[in-house]
Amino acid sequence: MRVVLGVAGGIAAYKSALLLRLLREAGHEVRVVPTAAALQFVGAPTWEALSGQPVTTSVFEGTDTVEHVRIGREADLVLVAPATADLMARAAGGLANDLLTATLLTATCPVLMAPAMHTEMWLHAATVANVETLRSRGIHVMDPADGRLTGADSGPGRLPEPGVIFDEALRLLGQAASGSPAGQGDLGGRSLVVSAGGTREPLDPVRFLGNRSSGRQGIAIAVEAAARGADVTLVAANVDAALLPPGVEVVEVETTADLQVAMRARADADVLIMAAAVADYRPATVAEAKVKKSGDGLSIDLVENPDILAGLAREARADQVVVGFAAETGDASGSVLEHGRAKARRKGAALLAVNAVGEGAGFGDVPNAVVILDTQGEVVAEAGGSKADVARGLLDAVVAVLDSRAPVDGPSGLSAAATTLPG
Ligand code: CTP
Repeated sequence: MRVVLGVAGGIAAYKSALLLRLLREAGHEVRVVPTAAALQFVGAPTWEALSGQPVTTSVFEGTDTVEHVRIGREADLVLVAPATADLMARAAGGLANDLLTATLLTATCPVLMAPAMHTEMWLHAATVANVETLRSRGIHVMDPADGRLTGADSGPGRLPEPGVIFDEALRLLGQAASGSPAGQGDLGGRSLVVSAGGTREPLDPVRFLGNRSSGRQGIAIAVEAAARGADVTLVAANVDAALLPPGVEVVEVETTADLQVAMRARADADVLIMAAAVADYRPATVAEAKVKKSGDGLSIDLVENPDILAGLAREARADQVVVGFAAETGDASGSVLEHGRAKARRKGAALLAVNAVGEGAGFGDVPNAVVILDTQGEVVAEAGGSKADVARGLLDAVVAVLDSRAPVDGPSGLSAAATTLPG
């Protein structure tokens, strides 16, 4: 298949020569597109000799064949390694000021970026926002490795090992070969509805009871499911508009009642995933005018909201897969997993992804880890890493359930209901 290997200007550029070899040895045609800065680290002759193809950084060469458009359009995978902070900023901003960024703007195939930079750059708010933007557009941005950097420093920011990037590239090429995202990935022909965000319950015209859920995990599931060929609807409860992904139908809701209506209206989908953090209670009455201070404290009567997930699971057809999330903290009455097991049995969903929250884990843009339980509370898989990694692991488990229920010639031909997922 045709791979574009973009190389940005970082010291780790030399490691991409090994990546290029691995790709070539696996039989892929590789066109290297470095940035001008990358050529300060590894020169064009190296890339030309190893790839057997011409190398240029400029959009003004090969103009007779409109190279800056053709390279991206014809690729089966664009892989950028190393992806520097500068390259990711330009890509997130939609700039096209050299051949690599122009290629990224014209590519319709999967795009994989392997970042490498100093820890301070990776953790800078600008880079965090750019990575978020790229991921929300469906670009696969790997997390950098943690280890020795260029100088004496060490920390997150090291280029993942070439073998690790190569494996991820092969996985995406495998999906491209099976036709995804044009509707024929392992979720091709399936409809999937996923809720994300957190519901808000109004107290009066200006106040609400809410929670801190950003919606990122549900969005990551929507993006991954669309990339695997599913027809996806994202039911977004109070999610920042900048995070909403393109290419996915979005239904915006505010309250738990709105969310329930939106989910029930789409309850015939093949896969229903409740990733939203739902308010368990709402004020018994909503004041029509702004509640004034009384100087004497305030008590609010709350009534319980319906359990949307349990309702969807109860009414699901035998061929549907209903999935829930359980954000848990351990307490005196049980561990995170014990609470998760009890919830799995109580809710009746086919799968329940349990994650530990509190102390920085789970909410916001931080690494995540889930244990996936079946209806009986048995562990069927584990997934960890970025929210995109968790989304991938969860959808692998969903596909395994779908396939175990489908006739023998089901969409991907697999039949195992239990999988072990990479961490
Ligand atoms: N959920 C739901 N409707 C509710 C509450 C939760 O559909 N009224 C869903 C969530 O979207 C999630 C799962 O149920 O997929 C578990 O949510 P969680 O808040 O962990 O569980 P609760 O039912 O609220 O249980 P508890 O408060 O006892 O932890």
